[in-house]
Amino acid sequence: RKKVTIGTLRSMHKKGEPITVITAHDFPSAHVADAAGMDIILVGDSLAMVALGMEDTSEVLVEEMLLHCRSVARATKGAFTVGDLPMGSYEIAPAQALETAIRFVKEGRVQGIKLEGGKEMAPTIQKITTAGIPVLGHVGLTPQRQNALGGFRVQGKTSSGAMRVLEDALAVQEAGCFAVVLEAVPAEVAAIITERLSIPTIGIGAGNGCSGQVLVQVDMTGNFPPGRFLPKFVKKYGDVWSESLKAIETYRDEVKSREYPAKEHTYPIAKEELEAFAE
Ligand code: KIV
Ligand code: NA
Repeated sequence: RKKVTIGTLRSMHKKGEPITVITAHDFPSAHVADAAGMDIILVGDSLAMVALGMEDTSEVLVEEMLLHCRSVARATKGAFTVGDLPMGSYEIAPAQALETAIRFVKEGRVQGIKLEGGKEMAPTIQKITTAGIPVLGHVGLTPQRQNALGGFRVQGKTSSGAMRVLEDALAVQEAGCFAVVLEAVPAEVAAIITERLSIPTIGIGAGNGCSGQVLVQVDMTGNFPPGRFLPKFVKKYGDVWSESLKAIETYRDEVKSREYPAKEHTYPIAKEELEAFAE
């Protein structure tokens, strides 16, 4: 597989070819995403919930993100890798953000970083991109600010709200982002924003008019117990939980019944050796 670079992404966008993005949080989840031909693998801070069992993304630390980024990077041969800067690691000043971004490249071994926010983050984005680190923007619903937004709410549902999302997207483009995630925005609004921008938009809950799509891997592969809440925009393409559950239950039953391990799962020993040993 040929390595996806910023240049590859730019030429896909120029040709109108959709950009495929998925999250991964460790070696196996990155391995399978890379094998499936994803263009970008994002180590999203959503791993706080889906991999670490935290209540929300505010709890995850830079060190924890870096550990997961490194494991993803080791498995990724083809996709462009992006690490998500966690809450508190970039908002204080552009210099703080650049310092964190550099750690993501040097220690996390990812190629680019993502950070949440619009206009107010422009100087920060500029600082990081000027240092040669590609930045993926993230506007619309920004989960790290859920407390200020009053929960996980659709953004840009009013004309003024839609205008704010457009202005944020334009600002992060101007600041140097190579692409921008549009999260939880009405499809028509996301389509218009996509037309107005010269960089690709990566939609999540933003309809089919974006330049690409991103989903959280454990959500789209169905790797979670039944009854868990799923946002409206998620399509469950698989049932990994059921597959794993079935496999582990069968293993349990076969151990209890001594059906496993069978002869073919064991190592042989020469008869004379065995006889000498067993005596
Ligand atoms: O953390 C994450 O997984 C994300 C994507 C869903 C965009 O930010
Ligand atoms: Na995120």
